Amino acid sequence: MGSVDLTTRLGPLTMRSPLVAASGTVGSVVDFAAVGALEHYGAAVAKSVSEDPWPGRAPPRLFPVGSGMLNGVGIQNPGIAVWVAEVAPRLPGVGVPVWGSVVGKTAEEFGRVAAAMARTGVVAVEANLSCPNLESGGMFALDPPAAAGAVSAVRAATTLPVGAKLSPNSADIVAVAKAVADAGADFVVVGNSVWGAAIDPETRRPGLSGMIGGYSGPPIKPIALRCVIEVRRALPRLPIVGCGGVRRGADVVEFLLAGAQAVALGTVHFAETRAGKRVVAELRRYGRRHRVDRVADLVGAWEPWTTAG
Ligand SMILES: Cc1cc2nc3c(=O)[nH]c(=O)nc-3n(C[C@H](O)[C@H](O)[C@H](O)COP(=O)(O)O)c2cc1C
Repeated sequence: MGSVDLTTRLGPLTMRSPLVAASGTVGSVVDFAAVGALEHYGAAVAKSVSEDPWPGRAPPRLFPVGSGMLNGVGIQNPGIAVWVAEVAPRLPGVGVPVWGSVVGKTAEEFGRVAAAMARTGVVAVEANLSCPNLESGGMFALDPPAAAGAVSAVRAATTLPVGAKLSPNSADIVAVAKAVADAGADFVVVGNSVWGAAIDPETRRPGLSGMIGGYSGPPIKPIALRCVIEVRRALPRLPIVGCGGVRRGADVVEFLLAGAQAVALGTVHFAETRAGKRVVAELRRYGRRHRVDRVADLVGAWEPWTTAG
C-alpha cells in the first residue's frame, strides 16, 4: 500500500501531495487541523483576509441545494492586523504548508495585505480575485486589467510564490489567466464558486440573505474542469490548481488529466472533515490499478478519441 508517488510541482512549489484544502472551507486552518486530515494534503489555504475586518453577510449564509451548496458568507474575516497577531503564530503547528489568501477592494489594498501576510510563516500567497473592486464596481476576476493590477500589487509585495484565484463566472477566463500570468502570478487556481440562487416556494424567502451567492460542490465540477481545459490549452506552461466539486479520488484524477498540477477540495470538508485521507487512498488505488507510479505523470495526460480510417 502506498507506493504511488504523490509529489507534484506547481511552478516554484514542490508539494508532497496534489491535494490542496480550499480557502474558506477549512477556516483559518489552525482550528481545522484538529478535525481534518491535513497530513494528506500538499497545502492548506487560509480563509481570505482583507485590510480591515469584514463583518460578512447576515444569516442565512449557507444553503444546501441538491448535492451542491450555496454560500453567501461575504468573506467575513478579522482583518490583517488581527490575523497576523492571532492566527499566523499558530500556523507552524498545523502540519501542512499554509498558503495565505488575500482580498481587497483596491489593488493597493491587495498589496498592503500581501506584504503583511508574507512576513508570517505562509509559503505562498493566493490573491482571491472574486471580490468587488471599489474603483470599477465589478469583480476583479471578471476584468483582466483589474485582475492584473491586483496581482501586480501582490507580486511587488513579496518574493513568495503568488497564486491568482480565478472565477468560472468570467466571460473569458483565458483573458484573465493571461493577464495575471503577465502580471507575475506563478500559478492560477481555477476556480472559485459559480454564481447561483435559491428561493423557498413555501416561505418565498431566498436561501441566502443576500439572494445571490456562490454555488459549489459536485454539480460545478464540469464547469471548473472546462475552465481548467481552456486555460491549459491557451497557456500550457502556466501551473494550475483545479478546484470545483471534487469529492473522490477519481475527481482528482480528472483534474490532473485536464492539465492541473494540483487539485483543491472545498465543500466536501463540510460533510467530511477528514475527506483528504479517503481521497488520497482512492488516488493510490487508482495508481495501482492503472500502473501509474507518479501522479505527476497524469498531468495533461487525457487521451483524445481517434476516428477509424
Ligand atoms: C462557505 C465557503 C466559503 C468560501 N470562502 C472562500 C474564501 O474566503 N476565499 C476563497 O478564495 N474562496 C472561498 N470559497 C471558495 C472555495 O475555496 C472553492 O473555490 C469553491 O467552493 C469551489 O470548490 P468546491 O466545489 O470544492 O467547494 C468558499 C467556499 C465556501 C463553500
